[in-house]
Amino acid sequence: MTPRNFVRFSEQLKGGKMALIKWSDKYSVHIQKIDEQHKHFINLINKLYQVVVEESTQSSVGKILDELFDYTNYHFKTEEELFKTHNYPGFEIHKQQHEAFIKLVLELKEDFSKGRVTITLKILAFMNEWLINHILNSDQKYASYLNSKGVS
Ligand SMILES: [Fe+2]
Ligand SMILES: [Fe+2]
Repeated sequence: MTPRNFVRFSEQLKGGKMALIKWSDKYSVHIQKIDEQHKHFINLINKLYQVVVEESTQSSVGKILDELFDYTNYHFKTEEELFKTHNYPGFEIHKQQHEAFIKLVLELKEDFSKGRVTITLKILAFMNEWLINHILNSDQKYASYLNSKGVS
């Protein structure tokens, strides 16, 4: 298995440029705790973007990458706990998407720490796109279900 899937996927992106992501109400899942976490998630990707653009030291890039990995795990667990508590029927499919992304970020983190890859704007654009698509599609799907169960 090749350890550079994130890099490979990112290279398939058309534009490959990104800007900072801005929170928009259309991302809201109308669950306060989750909206807060998504905002933090976006902030972390923006922070990573900033250090990459500013050509900061490898160690500062690495630190944010570690933080991003830990936060991704934490956030996905929060969502999965809610799914379990409320018997969300889309649990398995959603969890698989989380696991696939975690795996990519882990590979990226490991490759970076071993000096095998540098974090490029394309990689950031891919991460960005994944997160926004996931929030707008998969997360929105559970939102209506959980909202109907009174979760807000
Ligand atoms: Fe999410
Ligand atoms: Fe999710």
